[in-house]
Amino acid sequence: MTNPTSAGDESANTNPSDAEASSAHVFMEDTEEDIEWPAGKRLLYAMLDAGLDAPYGCTEGECGACQCVVEPHDNATTHMVHNNVLDEYDIADDMTLACQTLSDTPGGKFDVSYDF
Ligand code: FES
Repeated sequence: MTNPTSAGDESANTNPSDAEASSAHVFMEDTEEDIEWPAGKRLLYAMLDAGLDAPYGCTEGECGACQCVVEPHDNATTHMVHNNVLDEYDIADDMTLACQTLSDTPGGKFDVSYDF
């Protein structure tokens, strides 16, 4: 599958050079990797840009193929731009759609897991 990196980058509206990137420690199958999560970039594209084989399907918040768990450190927060898959209980359990997730916290640190 090709990397749809240009999609999901909201940096054109946020001037990312002025915002501090977040970081994520990603647990995926038998690997762990620390990646930069630029401000205004959706989590899926940050992982793909880092060379991770992150799963995805529609990239529109409609299929759930990119579903993962994002646990924030130190009160960092995220939000989904669009979600037509997860219910309030999933979200309360830190589930998110990577293709729709932005960090709200400059310099925020997060653990991302596909092991659930
Ligand atoms: S890839 Fe379909 S919801 Fe994220």
